[in-house]
Amino acid sequence: MASASTNDIEFRSVTKNYGAVTAVTDINLNVPKGAFLALLGPSGCGKTTCLRMIGGFEQPSEGTVLIDGREMNGVPAYRRPVNMVFQHYALFPHFDVRQNVAYGLKQMRPKLAATEIDRRVTEALEMVRLGGFAKRRIHEMSGGQQQRVALARAIVNRPSVLLLDEPLAALDKKLRSAMQIELQTLQRELGITFVLVTHDQEEALSMADIVCVMSAGRIRQLGSPQEVYDRPADLFVADFVGKTNRVNATMEADGATLRLADGSAIAAGSPVSPGETIVAIRPESIRLTRAQAPGFASFKGTVTHRIFLGSSAEYAVTVPGLGDFLVTADRRSMNESDLVEPGEAVFLGFDPLAAHVFPASSAA
Ligand SMILES: Nc1ncnc2c1ncn2[C@@H]1O[C@H](COP(=O)(O)OP(=O)(O)O)[C@@H](O)[C@H]1O
Ligand SMILES: [Mg+2]
Repeated sequence: MASASTNDIEFRSVTKNYGAVTAVTDINLNVPKGAFLALLGPSGCGKTTCLRMIGGFEQPSEGTVLIDGREMNGVPAYRRPVNMVFQHYALFPHFDVRQNVAYGLKQMRPKLAATEIDRRVTEALEMVRLGGFAKRRIHEMSGGQQQRVALARAIVNRPSVLLLDEPLAALDKKLRSAMQIELQTLQRELGITFVLVTHDQEEALSMADIVCVMSAGRIRQLGSPQEVYDRPADLFVADFVGKTNRVNATMEADGATLRLADGSAIAAGSPVSPGETIVAIRPESIRLTRAQAPGFASFKGTVTHRIFLGSSAEYAVTVPGLGDFLVTADRRSMNESDLVEPGEAVFLGFDPLAAHVFPASSAA
């Protein structure tokens, strides 16, 4: 029974080739009903291709896409229970807001009653907080408002899945943050599955409840925002999802001691085979102090740059023998409330458990 499926969307060994170009390779993915999934990865990694295969705008070269337990191979876009907000959402500039949102409903066969169309359009506009804007022309709206019209147009025929391809990319930073919150609220209110494509890790982490990190047409990691951030599966994920410092180290034969390039040793936070490794440490996992803090692994270095960010500060610190480190200091949690100046000697302390150790051979 199709409706018995708890997965709204499923990819089974999906590969997509465009002629000689392989856009995605052997994708396996389950998206539960009502989830907010983000496909996250650099440009060209295959995110849009995945989205278009869900939407029915592309067909897999191999494998199967299922929606609500039903195989979608050969099912055209207009017969799928999905709707898509495109990266370049094309609104009709000569229509007003109401006409733009009503457009799809008016094409429906059998025809919907005019009162029903009106009711649904009003409801969709309320949902995206554009209740008072029905009569506005598109060119009289700001970028953020236009984006909301595009959203209203996509939700008005009540799809069970909403596909969003970089929907906030054209907005400025402040508006983008506001829309991130609104999209999340909208998803909860509607209770439908959202699949969002983005290359912006902050956007993926803040909105989604499942993040699918992709690179070069493959899934690197699938997990909650916290899992992919706190326990990155590999160096690519550690670098792409957030910032990370890399330190070359050799895992000794005991499988527990990491020997660093400057000769010092730290205990490994996670098990790794002996040999060359890369230790990845988040900038906010490092504590920058003027005096050496006890109980932590620590490096001695010199501050070379400081970027003041208001509630926090970022420091670039050079450690002889180990290279440059980026350190984020939350000003409230600093035991020294004053900012450290470039040129000052500092200690970088960290809990080895907060570092991730990967085989050097996996370096991208
Ligand atoms: N219609 C197409 N014809 C040929 N190659 C394509 C087409 N669409 C995408 N590609 C290629 O497939 C790869 C993945 O593209 P895409 O899914 O758009 O990536 P993303 O959305 O992550 O930026 C890229 O190498 C891209 O150039
Ligand atoms: Mg894309």
